[in-house]
Amino acid sequence: MRGGPGGRRLSTYAPTGARPVDTQPNEWWRRAVIYQIYPRSFADANGDGVGDLPGITTRLDHLVDLGVDALWLSPFYPSPQADAGYDVADYRGVDPLFGRLEDIDKLISAAKERGLRVIVDLVPNHTSSEHPWFRAALPAGPGSPERNRYVFRAGKGPAGNDPPNDWESNFGGPAWTRVAERDGRPGQWYLHLFDTGQPDLNWDNPEVREEFRAILRFWLDRGVDGFRVDVAHGLVKQADLADWRPPVEPLSGPGTEAAPRPPMWDQDGVHEIYRDWHRVLAEYPGERMMVAEAWVEPVERMAAYARPDEMQQAFNFEYLLAAWTAPAQYAVITRSLEATGAVGAPTTWVLSNHDVIRHASRLGLPLDAPRPRGIGPGDPKPDPVLGLRRARAATLLMLALPGSAYLYQGEELGLPEAMDIPDEYRQDPTWERSGHTVRGRDGCRVPIPWEADAPSYGFGPTDASWLPQPESWAEYALDRQRGVPGSTYEMYRSALRLRRSLGLGQGTLAWQEAPDEVLTFRLGDVLVLTNFGAEPAALPAGTRVLLASGPLEADGRVPTDVTVWAR
Ligand code: GLC
Repeated sequence: MRGGPGGRRLSTYAPTGARPVDTQPNEWWRRAVIYQIYPRSFADANGDGVGDLPGITTRLDHLVDLGVDALWLSPFYPSPQADAGYDVADYRGVDPLFGRLEDIDKLISAAKERGLRVIVDLVPNHTSSEHPWFRAALPAGPGSPERNRYVFRAGKGPAGNDPPNDWESNFGGPAWTRVAERDGRPGQWYLHLFDTGQPDLNWDNPEVREEFRAILRFWLDRGVDGFRVDVAHGLVKQADLADWRPPVEPLSGPGTEAAPRPPMWDQDGVHEIYRDWHRVLAEYPGERMMVAEAWVEPVERMAAYARPDEMQQAFNFEYLLAAWTAPAQYAVITRSLEATGAVGAPTTWVLSNHDVIRHASRLGLPLDAPRPRGIGPGDPKPDPVLGLRRARAATLLMLALPGSAYLYQGEELGLPEAMDIPDEYRQDPTWERSGHTVRGRDGCRVPIPWEADAPSYGFGPTDASWLPQPESWAEYALDRQRGVPGSTYEMYRSALRLRRSLGLGQGTLAWQEAPDEVLTFRLGDVLVLTNFGAEPAALPAGTRVLLASGPLEADGRVPTDVTVWAR
């Protein structure tokens, strides 16, 4: 593990030049490749071990070299960091940890100069408990307008000692916390679907709606191209706040329309909010967009967030969760295209983000193993070689598909999950709230390696890193991969260039082969083949391979767990 004080300065980073802004912006988001930056772990300019906005700005040329269209910034707002910034105390500022307001302005203009669009995270389901509204709600007492911005209720039982219902926090433990009233006695309870430091807002209150319209405008005025909307399926709760015991773990299997819908998720009322926001965005020039983070199923319900008068996109988590088999991939791709096609939206594709095990590790787990929520010391480990091989094949498959693709920082390096973080370093509230039973998401959030031989692998000018970096990460560092044929980074780079020049990521997909072991489709004149079977697969006679996720057989056939683009 690496981490600690001291160290020498970063070596200079040599950009290879900008490219012009997309001059034909017809709904750029329909085919965009959007790169997620997790600010605390991308680049640390001031050496305190936490990434920051100036750090991101100095590394923007990496995104240009890579060839993405846009970046999405996870929260950088003032926050007590109870949930790594997804607990926002001020929606119009920058946490000193990450810089100042002028730093985000500089970042946005530096991105624009390079032809990169910028999307920011919007967290409307809950504020931080340090938000001025919540601080005012506590002394204001039951029945006050201040409490009515949140979901305060009396407890159950004669003395109100039991929570108002049986809902559980997503991070473990009850979804309710009791407050002390002004007389010091235990009083009402407030709802938090996440950490205690993340009280849920009351979206039935017009004041909450008005405030978020103003927040949207604040960032639209600063020039952002859009918003990633956090927990978009959670804002409206079933009015009776009925008890709920999930019959199965959410998203553990394919959903059906008939499955009962939890009273806290995916209520029909959320859509009115997004219609309202759609109108706000439409007041602005330049094709602004929103993407819903909505963990709902089946894909048809996901697509409902991307109807023409709502958001422009929704994350396709069913795709992220799909098993690495030809039938499963075929099914999810087909159903996703149908579901989003039916509402006229582009499909999105995503394999990794800051909430899930990095796909270079996830895909190295046995196919029948349950999906772990975090991997730590002593846990069964995925096969790293198999994981990376499949991850590269999955990425090449994904980047050809029609629609918009999301990349998560570090995946272009083939970065695995950090699986040996000592438990005492864990920061994800899940670990504490689950009573140390669920390790949570720190393993995908470790600061990424830029230079193999620099302190903190070039993350910052010192050795400091808010989560320790594995010793094995030198080999993944950008400077070890840049210019190296066959490296994961060069594969991503080639794929993104070819995607642009061949017009992949848009158009109509035509399946070529029944999906038992080999998936083959055409997009225009490009043939995309992924071999999931045990035997090498032959390409059609006369095709020329443009790009492959791994070496081919001597006779040109495609080995197991390899994707090729051919023509
Ligand atoms: C979203 C974020 C996650 C956060 C949660 C609560 O799922 O992606 O990181 O913990 O919302 O805001």
